[in-house]
Amino acid sequence: MRPTRPVFIVGGAHTTFIGKHHPDFIWKGHPDHGKRTNPGLEDHLERATYDALADAGVDAGAIERAYIGNFAGECFSSQGHLGAMLAGVDDGFDGKPIARIEGACASGGLAIAAGIDAIAAGANLVLIVGVEVQTTVSARQGADFLARASHYETQRSIDPFTFPCLFARRAHAYREAHGVDDETLAAIVVKAHHNAARNPLAHLHAVGGNMSLEIAGGASEENPVFLENADLRDHLRLADCSPVSDGASALVLASHEGLEVLGRGRDEFTEILGFAVSVAPLQDTSPDPLHLHNVARAANAAYASSSKGPEDIGVAEVHDCFAIAEAEMMEALGFADAGEGAGYIADGRTALDGERPVNTGGGLIGFGHPVGATGVKQALEISRQLLGKCDGYQIPKQPRCGLSANMGGDDRTAVVLVQERP
Ligand code: CAA
Repeated sequence: MRPTRPVFIVGGAHTTFIGKHHPDFIWKGHPDHGKRTNPGLEDHLERATYDALADAGVDAGAIERAYIGNFAGECFSSQGHLGAMLAGVDDGFDGKPIARIEGACASGGLAIAAGIDAIAAGANLVLIVGVEVQTTVSARQGADFLARASHYETQRSIDPFTFPCLFARRAHAYREAHGVDDETLAAIVVKAHHNAARNPLAHLHAVGGNMSLEIAGGASEENPVFLENADLRDHLRLADCSPVSDGASALVLASHEGLEVLGRGRDEFTEILGFAVSVAPLQDTSPDPLHLHNVARAANAAYASSSKGPEDIGVAEVHDCFAIAEAEMMEALGFADAGEGAGYIADGRTALDGERPVNTGGGLIGFGHPVGATGVKQALEISRQLLGKCDGYQIPKQPRCGLSANMGGDDRTAVVLVQERP
């Protein structure tokens, strides 16, 4: 839809995304183990909220509505009712309409869509926060929680790691149908690490430099296969996966009147020109493994509503929960023809200095994937890139338009947003 009132992103912030391999992440062998603990859900929520408000130059009291994207707080942190938790972050939120939005890994994107609707309904300043903490349990236990984003009853048993297995299915089909070799898909992983190494907030910032085509492109002790599903085991390795990350992102949306409250001009911010949400049945447990049809449906609607097309998009954030997803996203978003998405990336066309940079801060694989935060992070990253605020990973070109594509489940919920700078 095209927002019925103009919507601007007037500021935002990410916490540092952390988890295993991040130097600040506390684990048994860490020198600070026993002296301090990792930030929890509430810590990430508070930090991102305050930093976003400060970046936008707005007090909590001026925020009229807020939405919080989170997938599984009850499972990972024994905490639900997160709207009320956000209300407790600052006295200025007390009494405001605040709600949590859940759509698996698209929770953040859906929270933004709810915020745009709130502006259409008359609100002028809306806060969006996305948050997830996942490192409270083992990766194996976490995989069981994440499997709730699939049709649990029928899909949980495909592998102890349900989602990695669902995307191994896509990688298997894609390799077979298009004759894509390991090195071509590995280029997606190498780009993610390369970009994350330039982004101090990225989960894999500190390990970014170590990933090569040779390591990413083959199974080894360093990059093992780990699925138990015998048919799909060989089609996904550890480095193909987004990591288990904790983090939060927040941003402030404003209408024209909201800009006036802030005393700011529309020429300072990006505008959300169009967006779309598309949801496909969870009960369809064997979607076409070669295409992200639901993402394509959302993208086409977002293009139509913004009067833009793929040719107008100069920078994009796409949902690379696994390397194969980024390849298929290129095709669903109209950047590459069917079967050419992986090659499009391997040719360097989505590199920081390429024709259409994609996942400039590392994407889900390099920046990290705290699932409820991801859709918010993606939209904020596009805004920051278009406004030249990305420091070490700023793209040299200055495109006018950017897109973010957030996906929940195996192509079940898709949120696509198109933004334009002044
Ligand atoms: N050799 C062999 N096996 C290994 C290994 C090695 N060197 N390292 C890890 N493994 C395997 C083992 O099976 C291990 O399990 P056990 O320890 O219980 O035996 C398992 O991987 C987990 O190992 P770790 O605890 O060391 O975990 P890790 O932190 O290295 O995790 C990972 C690696 C399993 C790939 C984990 O990063 C992961 O699960 N990533 C994917 C996260 C995910 O699925 N996110 C959601 C994406 S889907 C989406 O976005 C849509 C949606 O709506 C959900």
